[in-house]
Amino acid sequence: MQLTGNYLALAYLVSAILFILGLKGLTHPASARRGNYLAMSGMLVAIIATALDPAVRSYGFIIAGILLGSVIGTVIALKIRMTAMPQLVAALHSFVGLTAVLVAVGTYLTHSRTGNLNTVLMSELFVGTFIGAITFTGSLVAFGKLQGIITGKPLVFRGQHLLNLLIALVMFTSGVQFLLHNEFGALLVMIALALALGILLIVPIGGADMPVVVSMLNSYSGWAAAATGFTLHNNLLIITGALVGFSGAILSYIMSKAMNRSIASIILGGFGSGEGHADTGSSTAGAKGIKTAAVEDAVFLMTNASKVIIVPGYGMAVAQAQHALKELADILEHKGVTVHFAIHPVAGRMPGHMNVLLAEADVPYDHVFEMEEINPEFATADVALVVGANDVTNPAAKSDKSSPIYGMPILDVYKARQIFFIKRSMNPGYSGVENQLFYQDNCSLVFGDAKKVCEKLVVELKAS
Ligand code: TAP
Repeated sequence: MQLTGNYLALAYLVSAILFILGLKGLTHPASARRGNYLAMSGMLVAIIATALDPAVRSYGFIIAGILLGSVIGTVIALKIRMTAMPQLVAALHSFVGLTAVLVAVGTYLTHSRTGNLNTVLMSELFVGTFIGAITFTGSLVAFGKLQGIITGKPLVFRGQHLLNLLIALVMFTSGVQFLLHNEFGALLVMIALALALGILLIVPIGGADMPVVVSMLNSYSGWAAAATGFTLHNNLLIITGALVGFSGAILSYIMSKAMNRSIASIILGGFGSGEGHADTGSSTAGAKGIKTAAVEDAVFLMTNASKVIIVPGYGMAVAQAQHALKELADILEHKGVTVHFAIHPVAGRMPGHMNVLLAEADVPYDHVFEMEEINPEFATADVALVVGANDVTNPAAKSDKSSPIYGMPILDVYKARQIFFIKRSMNPGYSGVENQLFYQDNCSLVFGDAKKVCEKLVVELKAS
């Protein structure tokens, strides 16, 4: 059976609609699972329709690729830790970039042999190769930084931006040379320079900004895929590429806004070591002006509260404390306490990080509130229980103009009657900035691993 003309176009249209519905589903935790199924069905339709395209003449490589890819994908999906997701996404983007380059070079060689080259096709190859090459090496550097293979510190040197500008100029000149004179050598020079530019553009960006960069590279990989779609005359690849390109760009904008950074300042680099180790004295004892509390103190106040707001952060993800936290919330609710979860848009290390973990622990969606919804509630909360969050609660973002996080929107935890802060030490969060909240009269730190402390809280609550 083969799909030709209108039938193929119809199958691609169905697939594109399923992708769009999939994206729509992913906008809310309650519909995210359905969104994933819709997108997966869209991909299945796309693969089957493409396989039935008469242009496909043999299936050997395709089947081998699908089998190999499925095995590798399944193993990775089963083994990957949630906190390592951003680097996995970066690694996958690098493949899209590399594919765009290889398809463009392959297409050029085939068409130049048959004398079938024209300006439109060469312009597509030009765009596809340079975006693809930048995406490839840029994503590899982002992967290396997030995985800790290369330092998360920004690598900055004098004249860096000038050098990048120069390389970009020579790269474009080579591209134009390739377009005007059909020189394969110029194409190769352009690819080499784009590969170098990908590295140079990402090395000055600190680890703290890396998730935004990954989202930007996601956008680039979408445009590279769209360019490949033009080259291969595949409408679905053009639509999918554009969807990825735009959604990556929108996500980068939302993330940078929530971190109070401009996209330009992120691209120019130099912010954030990414390791959150601006040490303020990592011992749990002896930090001046802070109060500590025992698990029993927290349990006493929470059982006597009418409203408790739980603020999860990166530490909850690292400790995998979400299940213990859900049990804790259930017991409190059973005792008549209203329990709400407050989610900051950039809590954790990737968009939706906290939503996914709370959903995994079966926390009902109507107990989970976004920052704008929950902030007015802190003033009426008896207890705010902060579990491994830090930067997203730091009042310095509102009050200290000299702070690097000044202007970042925060959860108004400081307004709660009593705050219990679960963390292991006095170390700061990702931005490396000390949290002013620790010195407030109404704040007590409960030191320990988030999961262990939450489990102790559960035991103590059950006994109370
Ligand atoms: P952070 O400010 O990074 O603070 C996390 C806290 O968790 C740390 O203070 C750490 O203190 C504690 N912690 C780590 N492991 C723990 C464990 N096992 N048990 C208990 N506590 C533990 O996290 P946040 O408040 O979620 O803020 C996120 C930060 O990442 C923001 O600065 C944000 O801008 C940045 N960021 C986020 C994103 C996205 S999309 N989410 C993207 C880019 C950047 P101890 O070491 O003392 O335990």
